[in-house]
Amino acid sequence: MAATMDTSRNSILRSRVLKSCVFVLWFIASVIPLTFSITSKHFSAKTPYNWVHSTGEVSQDEWYTMEDLKGMACNAVHASAVIRHGARYPGLEDVNNLINVHHRLVNAMEPDVNPGIYEWVNRFPSNNDKALHHLGEEEQEELGKRIATRLYTLFVDEDLTDFRFIVSSMQRTKDSAGAFYEGFSNVIHTEEDIDDEFDSEVNEELMRFFDLCAKYVYSVGQNKTAYKEYHDFLEGSEIAAVKARIYEKLGIKDDILKPAEIRLIYLACGYETAAFKSSPWCSVLEDDDMEILEYLGDIRHSIKNGYTHNITWQQSCPLLSEIFFGFDETIVEIESTEEDEEVGGFIVGQFAFGHAETVGPLYAILGLYNDSVPIKADNRKEQEHRLFRASKILPFSANAVFVLYECVPEEFKEHEEVDEAEYYLKLFVNEKPVRIPGCENIHCLYSEVRNRYSHYIDRCDFKQICKKAPPKDEL
Ligand SMILES: *[C@@H]1O[C@H](CO)[C@@H](O)[C@H](O)[C@H]1NC(C)=O
Ligand SMILES: *[C@@H]1O[C@H](CO)[C@@H](O)[C@H](O)[C@H]1NC(C)=O
Ligand SMILES: *[C@@H]1O[C@H](CO)[C@@H](O)[C@H](O)[C@H]1NC(C)=O
Repeated sequence: MAATMDTSRNSILRSRVLKSCVFVLWFIASVIPLTFSITSKHFSAKTPYNWVHSTGEVSQDEWYTMEDLKGMACNAVHASAVIRHGARYPGLEDVNNLINVHHRLVNAMEPDVNPGIYEWVNRFPSNNDKALHHLGEEEQEELGKRIATRLYTLFVDEDLTDFRFIVSSMQRTKDSAGAFYEGFSNVIHTEEDIDDEFDSEVNEELMRFFDLCAKYVYSVGQNKTAYKEYHDFLEGSEIAAVKARIYEKLGIKDDILKPAEIRLIYLACGYETAAFKSSPWCSVLEDDDMEILEYLGDIRHSIKNGYTHNITWQQSCPLLSEIFFGFDETIVEIESTEEDEEVGGFIVGQFAFGHAETVGPLYAILGLYNDSVPIKADNRKEQEHRLFRASKILPFSANAVFVLYECVPEEFKEHEEVDEAEYYLKLFVNEKPVRIPGCENIHCLYSEVRNRYSHYIDRCDFKQICKKAPPKDEL
């Protein structure tokens, strides 16, 4: 009897403790707005690099030698990188729209329902339209360090003239190149010979072909019908459900937001978390909502930067050619140097800084991340394991690095005069080795890769491809 009484008294006590715990938790939750209730950090192409890729210590010369070939000694002789600019501020238009959305929400909600959102004020300065911010600079500087470390012996004794830096006309790619170079030169140069006079060339055909290609601009970029799947998904039931959940969280009765403004809230959560570590906008999203909004982004990117329209990747052939001509030249230089000792340096590293619209089409012309079923408005569930996932493949500072290796039979290693050099190619995407389509292995004979893409490399007639009317000779 006594024991029973004790138990019931305990359980009363326990339930009281529990109740006050729940109260305390409720209290905490209502006073401190949950700024990151979501666990997903997938913000489509607006995802900072280190949210999806590891950026830890790397070891020296990790990429310099290639161990994959038995009986051969392989050293890197040329590296060619295409790098998206680092994390940036939102565009002014997005910021102004967000201010407008906030205004409507404040008019429709009670202050205490979500004080974080209620009291939100825009912290993005008005003069930084799409400018690189501190996190983006850091991404690029660290990337420069890691690439220099991994190919240390290839780069260490080279003059600045043995590197080529290409940027687009946009300030954010120039700033990215500058930050990258800072990290890069800190690794390969000693303090006194760090050259501040770093030069880069603006090349719009290589970095912003998507602006110059009339056929792309006309048939994809400015063609609303081309984005039909995107609009279908945006106006569809899944985004509507996200909207309903947001209204419920904020106690909003009337339908005051457009579907596109739901995407804006998602982007605001990502942009603010990247720039300021946290954002009240995240508090109205759940992981399921994040997946839906991420998918919306992937439909957009598959149209804009991926496989949906052939012209999107066909227009990147000048960039692909430039990369391969760099390898060709390197091989010619090496072969002639062996005959004639006088022949001097050649470009050992080419670093090209562009945009998601540069890197996406490059993936596609290579045949990377090509889903067998197209990404569409009505097949999200089926696409759970899609390859063309912008959060992973096209985050800020996304990068594709080709490394060309000269391989000689191991017994010749110490000798100067070797005719039997073979050249191999490896591709690292976002710093992980990726099999080049058509190759059996991670490493691939250079001549085989070149052959596979020769149609795009040697017959890249940008003017012809980009004519508004389809060219007779289909590339
Ligand atoms: C716009 O896109 C649609 C769908 O892809 C296509 O059928 C149409 O020809 C495009 N319009 C132009 C002007 O290229
Ligand atoms: C698009 O390109 C692919 C791959 O080269 C080709 O198989 C397909 O026929 C092309 N589609 C059109 C409409 O030209
Ligand atoms: C992408 O994959 C589809 C389907 O497997 C194929 O028909 C197409 O040629 C591929 N596109 C490119 C550019 O490799």
